[in-house]
Amino acid sequence: MRNYLIAGNWKMNCGPAETQKLLRGIKNSDISIPERVDALVCPPMISLTVAANELQEEAGVALGAQNVHFEDNGAYTGEVSTQMLNEVYCEYVILGHSERREYFGETDQTVNAKVKKSLSDDLLPVICVGESLKQRKAGEHQLIVRKQVEAALTGVSEDQAAGLVIAYEPIWAIGTGETATPDQAQEMHKMIRDVIANLYGNDRAGGIRILYGGSMKPHNAEELLSQPDVDGGLIGGASLQADSFMEIIQIAG
Ligand code: G3H
Repeated sequence: MRNYLIAGNWKMNCGPAETQKLLRGIKNSDISIPERVDALVCPPMISLTVAANELQEEAGVALGAQNVHFEDNGAYTGEVSTQMLNEVYCEYVILGHSERREYFGETDQTVNAKVKKSLSDDLLPVICVGESLKQRKAGEHQLIVRKQVEAALTGVSEDQAAGLVIAYEPIWAIGTGETATPDQAQEMHKMIRDVIANLYGNDRAGGIRILYGGSMKPHNAEELLSQPDVDGGLIGGASLQADSFMEIIQIAG
């Protein structure tokens, strides 16, 4: 039985002061986190230390970063290493988000290098995959996403794969207010689970969580999360308000 994972990707929002405020809102919410739900927040790098301090006191919310480099250290201006994320108590790291692929030159190869580095340094990757509107209209969505998943997991063993997370995020649904229908989401999530089963077998595939991302909000969370292969959400806009984030967590439970 897979626990749901409700993850907030704060993107480039919330410096340290706002991070403290938002996390206090989450911790002081009237809604408590149900047993079958794991909660995760991924603030910007500069806010991770403040977030780690806020989340120390049994908050029941895990911490993640939005990116990491695949080298240990050195002359990589602007980058952050897995060890640095370990130091500030990150458990997860989002990798290959479509915004990083589009604006910052992230490729299947760099995503794969980061996945392997993260797994070897005790960070669970949340690997983002998803097709553009053009690709969906051309009927290429399954092929594109299959290739992204396979590329990200190249050289990852079955043992290493335990605990990693995939996030299916159709690019046309991100920040647009338009969501995939529950059927579209289920079709893609099932396909992704089949790809993982081909790589690692049914047992491992059955334990890997596949999140949906793309305008998930309290009003549409229930129908998406009720699909058999939708194991949670990677939430952008709605994770920036404690109320809506906690409401989605409640719905998942
Ligand atoms: O990582 C999160 C996704 O990009 C979804 O963002 O909920 O604002 O559409 P959104």
